[in-house]
Amino acid sequence: MILTLCYLIGSVTFILGLKMLSNPATARRGNLVAAAGMIIAILGTIFLYKDDEGNNLHNYGWIFGGIIIGAIIGTLAAKKVKMTAMPEMVSLFNGMGGACAALISIVEFNHFTNSPKIDGGFTLYPPLSRLGNDSLSLVIPHGQLLIIFLGLIIGSVSFAGSIIAWGKLNGRIKDYSFKGQHIFNLILLFLVVLSIVYFLFKINTGFGVSIGETFKVSFFTKGWVNILFYSIFLASLLYGILFVLPIGGADMPVVISLLNSFTGVAAACGGFLYNNKVMLTGGILVGAAGTLLTILMCKAMNRSLKNVLIGSFGGAKTGAAVGGKQQGAYKEISLSDTAVVMSYANKVMIVPGYGLAVAQAQHACHELEKLLESKGVTVKYAIHPVAGRMPGHMNVLLAEADVSYDKLLEMEQANEEFPTTDVVLVLGANDVVNPAAKTDPSSPIYGMPILDVELAKNVIVNKRSMKPGYAGIENDLFFQPKTSMLFGDAKKVLQDLIGEIKNI
Ligand code: TAP
Repeated sequence: MILTLCYLIGSVTFILGLKMLSNPATARRGNLVAAAGMIIAILGTIFLYKDDEGNNLHNYGWIFGGIIIGAIIGTLAAKKVKMTAMPEMVSLFNGMGGACAALISIVEFNHFTNSPKIDGGFTLYPPLSRLGNDSLSLVIPHGQLLIIFLGLIIGSVSFAGSIIAWGKLNGRIKDYSFKGQHIFNLILLFLVVLSIVYFLFKINTGFGVSIGETFKVSFFTKGWVNILFYSIFLASLLYGILFVLPIGGADMPVVISLLNSFTGVAAACGGFLYNNKVMLTGGILVGAAGTLLTILMCKAMNRSLKNVLIGSFGGAKTGAAVGGKQQGAYKEISLSDTAVVMSYANKVMIVPGYGLAVAQAQHACHELEKLLESKGVTVKYAIHPVAGRMPGHMNVLLAEADVSYDKLLEMEQANEEFPTTDVVLVLGANDVVNPAAKTDPSSPIYGMPILDVELAKNVIVNKRSMKPGYAGIENDLFFQPKTSMLFGDAKKVLQDLIGEIKNI
């Protein structure tokens, strides 16, 4: 009864926490609320759970050893991680979730096939006549076996895919594909599904774990079963690797979100298996949230999930100037001129991008905003949904510097305000302000909704060079008459700009 209450509290806090995460003002609290619910559910399970025979959990040394080691590693990793490396960490943590789900399936499978006694998990399988009158056949109930396989496959794909995504994001793993890879992947997936159907069917007809009077699974049969099971496991890992390897680096956040939803579903399988309601609820919530986030990200980039998964975008081209059409000349602006233009403006819109996170210039940015406001300038921020490298990247970054949430405009709102804006200051953003998304059908970002900064009276772009952003393409905006380039590292430029404005 108390355990059920713990699970109920856990489930409710997960839902409340998720709801609170959707607003930057309540997100931190939401995280804590859900974490508190998780702690209650875990401690409840450890101390209150009883099996069918009324036994409590044992192996406390292992359980708490694992919790303590995991908590130390997780806390240190989360505290040390740089904002720009956050997607990598999310990917790695997600991979661990997938691995756990796959391990649960392996452990439970072995539990079924190795157990010498008939316990709750086994049922006597008729008809005995098929196996001979003096032998019994033990079968794993079909539903449970199917759940074991689903957890195994989804968890393994999520684990292997997340590790590849992690390697890609930190540059350790390069894009790789071979001719016909998508067909190969489909065949692999088909074979995995076929093996499971075969397995389920064979178990049903007694091939699996028939035992004699000794209640021992015969060596040959058990070996067979294990070979098939671990082949499915390895094929799933291979599928996870091959599924993510060819996808471009720029699309990794979408892939991670998708893999995150896989991990949720795999965890939900664990919930089914153990009849654990809080695990089921948590898994389903993660699965649903990950799926929604994937869809929203694809929408923000105006691309279908299929295009993300099998189209190539960014990645290999990253960081290198891509030869395109010849651009005209761009003009530069000095710090002192920038200071004058901004100080005498009525309205300034700041467009943060990935470069702001790289430069860790969020505090300097907030200082500039306060300084300008003290001079009577209205300052707002235009936030593109996929600016940076992860969902909400810019919101989190600016929140770190205590920028007020009501100053952050979503893309649609910002686009309405650009025509009445005197100066747009683009800080380390590139793709999200690239007009090619509207004008060049051959561009890889064509169709992605962008911030229409060119509608403002002046556009000042701060970046370090003329190198492209993550999509690896040139940006026409930099060559337009209204645009001026202010080169340099965003943090240094902002600090110098603040100094100049103070001197006016
Ligand atoms: P990007 O297009 O990647 O451009 C960032 C720019 O920042 C670069 O051109 C770089 O130019 C500049 N930069 C780097 N370090 C800097 C520094 N220290 N100081 C000043 N500038 C610096 O970024 P974006 O506009 O934010 O667009 C995000 C991209 O990621 C889009 O293509 C988007 O589709 C993709 N993406 C994002 C997400 C999410 S969820 N955020 C998901 C999937 C894909 P220099 O090297 O010349 O300085």
